[in-house]
Amino acid sequence: MSYINDQLIHTLKSFNVNLGDENYSGKVRENFYLDDKIIMVTTDRVSAFDHILGTIPFKGEILTQIAKFWFEKTKHIAPNHYIDDPDPQVLLTKRAKTLPIEIIVRGYITGSLWRDYEKGIDDQYGFKIPAGMTKNQKFDSPILTPTTKADYGEHDEPISKEEIVAGLVDKDIYEKAEKYAIELFSEGQKWAQERGLILVDTKYEFGMIDGELNVIDEIHTPDSSRYWMAEEYQERYENGENQLMLDKENIRQWLIEKGFSGEGTPPELSEDIRVLLSEKYMELYKVLIGDDYNPSLGDVNTRIINNLTDEGLLKENVNEG
Ligand SMILES: Nc1ncnc2c1ncn2[C@@H]1O[C@H](COP(=O)(O)OP(=O)(O)O)[C@@H](O)[C@H]1O
Ligand SMILES: [Mg+2]
Repeated sequence: MSYINDQLIHTLKSFNVNLGDENYSGKVRENFYLDDKIIMVTTDRVSAFDHILGTIPFKGEILTQIAKFWFEKTKHIAPNHYIDDPDPQVLLTKRAKTLPIEIIVRGYITGSLWRDYEKGIDDQYGFKIPAGMTKNQKFDSPILTPTTKADYGEHDEPISKEEIVAGLVDKDIYEKAEKYAIELFSEGQKWAQERGLILVDTKYEFGMIDGELNVIDEIHTPDSSRYWMAEEYQERYENGENQLMLDKENIRQWLIEKGFSGEGTPPELSEDIRVLLSEKYMELYKVLIGDDYNPSLGDVNTRIINNLTDEGLLKENVNEG
């Protein structure tokens, strides 16, 4: 699709403006901390195996809009940090005191969990994964595999509930986070299933806002979740074939084929894979939300600056490019 090719030169690699007192540049997002709020700019960067690999056209806005969709849809299940979206790829959120762990909920054994299990590692989370499972098999009920939150280039490490409540998070708060994670995942699975998708697994982050546990970061986006096509699941599973994916696993597969699985320097993304991934993100949006995604064409940096200025979040003429 030619408009995706045209957008390759306009993607948002970084966002550099004087905003807030403090900023944090993550793998994908740039956070600008105001007093009790954050302006979260989702760049078009794509990361896998904890490395930044390049940019994908429209990725930032699609992710932001999917996250917004889910925050609004699930606020009755768990309070979250969402306030507003001043630009298609910017969220205004409440600033939280983050818990030092993430909770991954998994409905199926796949990805890194499967890669470990295949090597005989089956007890990293304080319980044993059932014996004799095969790749991409469904769990009887979803399991929780918490991890620590690692610094850039480091991998998040598995951790058990026992270790978490022994020193990192109050037991009551952690158990509430577990409950939120399970309920959100169940809501996500139900919604996905009605649209011919499987929500395979997803990662949640939590933080305290005004003394209350909140869901923060992003939810059920393709960066934090795996989605498969439901229709072909069973046959592909029985034949031992890879599942049809609408998510980040595409790029992991591409990297593995190029001989990269986390160690050393990642290969440069070709234009073809950047366009293909853009199509995947748009397809996921369409299937999940039910509407075609209407991407904003042209320079992303300028658009965001204009929108933030209009919303009074940015003083004029502070653009550093
Ligand atoms: N409401 C919030 N309050 C404080 N920090 C948050 C909030 N929501 C998300 N974050 C943090 O913002 C960062 C988002 O940027 P991201 O690119 O995902 O970074 P990372 O590379 O650390 O995963 C994450 O570190 C996440 O924990
Ligand atoms: Mg992150």
